[in-house]
Amino acid sequence: MKHRMALLASVTPALLLAALTPLQVSARQTSNPPQKAASTVTDSARGVAHPELWPAAKSKGLVDAKTEAFVTGLMAKMSLEDKVGQMIQADISTVTPADLANYPLGSILAGGDSAPAGGDDRAGPDKWVETARAFRAASLAERPGHVAIPIMFGIDAVHGNNNVVGATLFPHNSALGATHDPALIRRIGVATAQETAAAGIDWAFGPTLAVPQDHRWGRTYEGYSEDPDIVRQYAGEMVLGLQGQAGAGQALQRGHVAASAKHFLGDGGTTNGVDQGDADVSEQDLIRIHAAGYPAAVDAGIMTVMASFSSWQGAKMHGNKSLLTDVLKGRMGFDGFVVGDWNGHGQVPGCTADSCPAAVLAGLDMFMAPNDWKALFTNTVAQVKAGTIPMARIDDAVRRILRVKTKLGLFDPARPFELKDGVIGNAEHRALAREAVRKSLVLLKNNGQVLPLKAKSHVLVVGEAADEIGRQTGGWTLSWQGTGNKNSDFPGATSLYEGIRQAVTAGGGTVDLSADGSYTTKPDVAVVVFGEMPYAEFQGDIPSLEFQAGDKQDLALLRKLKAQGIPVVSVFLSGRPLWVNPEINASDAFVAAWFPGSEGGGVADVLVGDMLGRPRYDFTGKLSYSWPKTAAQATLNRLRQPYDPLFPFGYGLRYADAKPVTVPQLPEVSGVDAAAANIDTYFVKGRNPAPWSFVLRQGAASVPVPGDGTATEVAGALALKPVDAGGIQGAGRQLSWTGKGEAAIAVTGGNALDLTRQANGALSLQVDYRVDEAPAGTVWLISGPGSGTGPATPGALDLTSVLKAAPLGQWQTLKIKLSCFKQAGADLSRVTTPFALSTGGTLRLSLATVRLSANPAGSICPGH
Ligand code: BGC
Ligand code: BGC
Repeated sequence: MKHRMALLASVTPALLLAALTPLQVSARQTSNPPQKAASTVTDSARGVAHPELWPAAKSKGLVDAKTEAFVTGLMAKMSLEDKVGQMIQADISTVTPADLANYPLGSILAGGDSAPAGGDDRAGPDKWVETARAFRAASLAERPGHVAIPIMFGIDAVHGNNNVVGATLFPHNSALGATHDPALIRRIGVATAQETAAAGIDWAFGPTLAVPQDHRWGRTYEGYSEDPDIVRQYAGEMVLGLQGQAGAGQALQRGHVAASAKHFLGDGGTTNGVDQGDADVSEQDLIRIHAAGYPAAVDAGIMTVMASFSSWQGAKMHGNKSLLTDVLKGRMGFDGFVVGDWNGHGQVPGCTADSCPAAVLAGLDMFMAPNDWKALFTNTVAQVKAGTIPMARIDDAVRRILRVKTKLGLFDPARPFELKDGVIGNAEHRALAREAVRKSLVLLKNNGQVLPLKAKSHVLVVGEAADEIGRQTGGWTLSWQGTGNKNSDFPGATSLYEGIRQAVTAGGGTVDLSADGSYTTKPDVAVVVFGEMPYAEFQGDIPSLEFQAGDKQDLALLRKLKAQGIPVVSVFLSGRPLWVNPEINASDAFVAAWFPGSEGGGVADVLVGDMLGRPRYDFTGKLSYSWPKTAAQATLNRLRQPYDPLFPFGYGLRYADAKPVTVPQLPEVSGVDAAAANIDTYFVKGRNPAPWSFVLRQGAASVPVPGDGTATEVAGALALKPVDAGGIQGAGRQLSWTGKGEAAIAVTGGNALDLTRQANGALSLQVDYRVDEAPAGTVWLISGPGSGTGPATPGALDLTSVLKAAPLGQWQTLKIKLSCFKQAGADLSRVTTPFALSTGGTLRLSLATVRLSANPAGSICPGH
């Protein structure tokens, strides 16, 4: 109990205790370490588990005599090729139905960026059904000497069936954790399964059972909680929601799909929260924290488990026999199959994406081989023939896969393609999502009881995120990173602004929308919507918990409104708790809204009261992740000492609180070196946020540019001076090249950046610029290691035609995919110059912004 005292001075412990549900109280009592201690782990035994220390479990309803006899009959007729084919899953961006005639694959998936039939990623459900039908028909085509087995189609339906336009998008898992409501999780599972099945898809790659321990991890929002007990209590519920109850001799009910618990194991325990990193934790912690949800998922009959990209004690999970086979299939009695993660087998030592007997030997049953499935198939068949992989292992894997397909009902001709009108995005599912939004909101501050808003008032809704649905849906939404979405991609969804507008106008008030906080009629109150941009996987990994470390643009907006005497309500969109003390100070009320999904109306339900200002719904959400007091508290967790949060696990204010809580002014020292935290913002609003600065280069000469942009020049070849940009005095820099030799402006100053993984994904270098006088010679844009200028520099892209085409005197935004610089030869693992612009000819050009952008819309590869 002691750590619970570490509260805000003004929040009484009694108040907090009152906020704890029985669920949490009992949870706390059960989170003791296992009784038996592991034998001393020697170095040679690192990464090897001791199954006897693990909790026992048993798959329910997967194995029964009828099913096993059916599978035995099938297997007796299958060739080695038929069997190996079952063990491979290809991505629909690289495989066609026709390929199945030569490669009898067991499964297909649609990756986050993979489009259905016709190639349009924003196509509606009918295209997904068409895709599923075509692959299913091809898998069932009769061919001599081959046993036709229905293919199984999987997708990341992780917050609703989120790849399909028009689907209901539920709040992400970190939000659902705040509801502390296992029954709600089951209902969301049911709705998600229906919308997935209705699109012709058989299998959802969820639930994520990660227990994120370092909130810098970009996948923190995919986990329900930092607390193993919440994950334990949700795991079985989500499985039962998605799959329903598997019964002896009987297939899943219509409208249910197979689930996949992921990522086994320790994905949330990697050092420094590095995605795909190493969980260097004891076996006791692996059991007590990271494995918490798995016994429940297995007991509930989960059909598949996905291996993690990450390592445990240095050993890659895709190759860890003691965990995949001895613990999961042995001790935990898991009778379904283990699927790999996206080319994850290729990371096992000695393996490549197209060859990995070690993973099969370790217990992997199905490779997720998005693009190298052809060679993988050929190599695996050869490895069985050569005796590298014993036939018994293949037979075990294939039996597990066919068992799941049977129990899933894939052999039942009536089972798939259940598209009935009115399933995807229907009113009932949207109402459920809206309820989940209401229950997941956590009220962190409500000084002066500014909330609930009186409906009969004039409300200004502020911020670019307020009416942009893609900002509230987060990653894994229509695209992998959740970026590049427009409101028109979300038919039937409601933005936060729209929800507030409806609620306020229904109560007789008025609402204005303003991206930048300007207004014509002074509002009674401002609701400012801001937060993290969408991200997925490693692209969300951050160096510290400081929000907007490089550029506190939203803070400026809050302060501007507050300075005008307007009460400010902040609605913060984020996947995780972040250090926002300055933003909290600049707000009268502060609501953690997470990534709430498509039903923005749920926010208004709680924020906007009735005409008299009485609440229509109270806040009930309570933190399932501890909120940090400094940006350095990345591993804050109530189960770990010292525990000194700003708002502890379980915190959340309510309108009904007996005694109103006042959050005092908070310290604004982040506790981390802002410079070390800023890897992506190089020049914005007339400043180079630390540690970056501009330098002018010519040959060996290098002249630093003062932070205020004082006129500077190098060797008579290039001069810089401040100019206005975006209506702000001195917010830009104008560069004038004279043609006296190759000269460059560059960003320097920070430690070498490793941008390899950012380049793998959708990240771009964004430059807001204005051509004042067209280039006479070739202009090079550079990002990479070293301090070279001109064409010989690795990573130099020819920007000439882009600049020549730009209208003179008008600001433009240029986004260049980081991968373009890699193609141009830059080693992106040690970038010291994230940006340079170089020419030997004359040119006059102004810069307003230089930064990395997570929004790939409009990105190009100049010169390609
Ligand atoms: C992710 C998984 C996901 C898979 C398929 C991987 O990169 O780690 O969570 O299910 O891709 O999209
Ligand atoms: C896919 C994702 C996958 C990721 C793995 C992306 O291209 O769309 O589904 O998880 O690659 O790196």
